[in-house]
Amino acid sequence: MTAPDLPAELKAALDARLQGLSRNAAASRAALISKTYRDGGGSGAIASEADALAYALARMPATYAAVAASLNAFREIRPDFAPNSLLDVGAGPGTATWAAAETFSSLQTFNLVDANRALRALALDLSRGSARLREINYRHGEARAALADTGVADLVVASYMIGEISDAEQTALADLMWTKTSGTLLIVEPGTPAGYRRIIALRQQLIGSGAHIAAPCPHDGSCPLTAPDWCHFAQRLPRSRAHRQLKSAELPYEDEKFSYVALTRAPAARHPARVLAQPVVTKVEISAKLCTPDGLAIAKMSRRAKEPYARARRWRWGDAVMAEQTTPGRPGERRDP
Ligand SMILES: C[S@@+](CC[C@H](N)C(=O)[O-])C[C@H]1O[C@@H](n2cnc3c(N)ncnc32)[C@H](O)[C@@H]1O
Repeated sequence: MTAPDLPAELKAALDARLQGLSRNAAASRAALISKTYRDGGGSGAIASEADALAYALARMPATYAAVAASLNAFREIRPDFAPNSLLDVGAGPGTATWAAAETFSSLQTFNLVDANRALRALALDLSRGSARLREINYRHGEARAALADTGVADLVVASYMIGEISDAEQTALADLMWTKTSGTLLIVEPGTPAGYRRIIALRQQLIGSGAHIAAPCPHDGSCPLTAPDWCHFAQRLPRSRAHRQLKSAELPYEDEKFSYVALTRAPAARHPARVLAQPVVTKVEISAKLCTPDGLAIAKMSRRAKEPYARARRWRWGDAVMAEQTTPGRPGERRDP
């Protein structure tokens, strides 16, 4: 399992860049960039080296944790997947590339694409000291234009990028990314209703092009959730002192909410159910909301059913659980919502 915190090499590279930087100046730049994102703007506000660093300090730990969690979930379904090549679309400071390198020791070739010069420069700077990532090939340019003459990759990732382009571009880019995918395409977005809607639209589109879903869904059918519900997950990650200062945050951790989909060329051999929310534990039972191959279900594990109850106590939001573990063995205990 890939840990949610940044790899030591990346942390050290970021810390080195922090030396001599005014924390107050970085905090106000980070606040401005965050406000632009909240107001629906994109990474266009990141124009200078200092902006890029402020973005990386403020957001890279959380987006890294979300990509690592998505890759962990995917790997659990497809433990045989050993990609050789990666294509990171809208790579920014190289977040998903670092997470993929950490997850797959098999990766040898790293191709990144982004339209933002400042983020590209930072990514190259951060990876310079890394034995694995010093040779990354990072193209500057608009994603669709750059991808047109880029080769296929075993693993293609677009992390926190899709929301920055128009609906029509999303459709066209998804098609293009799929043609560049020989194994798996992972799309990660913020865990908001809007992020989920983008994921679900691209999921539907690419299933139409022959893709299969490896995670989080246990099926290639329509999503059974209906608004205002939406499929998202949360990853807790530690907050460094610098990050706490930057965000004026007290807690030593943050919870990053994200939505994701991992699409594959080959269908998965296993389709475990997915835990869609943190299970509710009472003195009487554990109740867990699950997405199963047959649709939504609320699994109820009575405390009296000792083993199933003990197993369900370990379930966490986002976990994959085998169908036979979702019933306590007595009819009527698993209920559809
Ligand atoms: C929120 S950042 C995410 C960066 C990185 N993937 C991560 O997870 O931290 C979005 C990135 O997408 C890039 N981007 C947005 N639209 C793009 C486009 N049309 N072509 C290339 N890159 C684009 C931005 O420049 C920015 O680096």
